[in-house]
Amino acid sequence: MQCKRGRLDRLLAKHFQLPRKQVRLLLLTHQVSVDGTIVTDMDFQVDEFMHVACQGQKISGDCPRYYMLNKPVGVVSATIDDEHQTVLELLPAALRDGLHIVGRLDLNTSGMILLTNDSRWSEALMTPNAHVAKRYQVTLKHPVTVEYQRAFQAGMYFNFEDITTLPAQLIIHSGHQVEVILREGKYHQIKRMFGHFRNQVLALHRSQIGALVLDPALAPSQWRALTPQEVAGARVSLTGDDHQIASKFDG
Ligand code: URA
Repeated sequence: MQCKRGRLDRLLAKHFQLPRKQVRLLLLTHQVSVDGTIVTDMDFQVDEFMHVACQGQKISGDCPRYYMLNKPVGVVSATIDDEHQTVLELLPAALRDGLHIVGRLDLNTSGMILLTNDSRWSEALMTPNAHVAKRYQVTLKHPVTVEYQRAFQAGMYFNFEDITTLPAQLIIHSGHQVEVILREGKYHQIKRMFGHFRNQVLALHRSQIGALVLDPALAPSQWRALTPQEVAGARVSLTGDDHQIASKFDG
């Protein structure tokens, strides 16, 4: 999702369907304000959250909104779908406008989905270079061994994309119950990593993205708004260990 940033004169021209000459006149005659300050500069840059007004009438300026949601299995990580209910449809219709999904999950994966209208925030969280950690609970058909841990840590070669996965942490709770911490998001990544050992993922659940932990009070299909502290701190990684691993990538 690209950040919606652009020139003020273009926004005005599009909104009023005016030629640039007339837009220039509006600006030069002090009729346009951005966040309450008169702006006369044609090149002025605005984003979707700046309050632009002309002759006192609001033209644009959304409030940034951020939600976490507990996606159930069977609901699709999309904004529109012909076949399945979408994560967006779990929110009241009045809140849906302008929201996009931050980090999709497969149809049969449950857990944390983030939704926002702030594309700069979602880009910062999901840009591949940020290596923001994502934590998953995994139930497996066959018991795992320490061999898996070594392979996850070393990175696994994916033939189709011709890439080697970044080091991933595998925490073994019992033979069939593990946690995986990824710092990237390749297509069906966890299922493919266990598939390498011919082991089937029976259940997959995401419990954490960066510093944001799925609120245990949220039953499947429930959602809540993020607090300002959660919004500000989301990109911070999981643990001290994680910082070491992340700095290895960044360096
Ligand atoms: N890995 C998968 O295989 N599926 C997901 O939904 C997320 C990570």
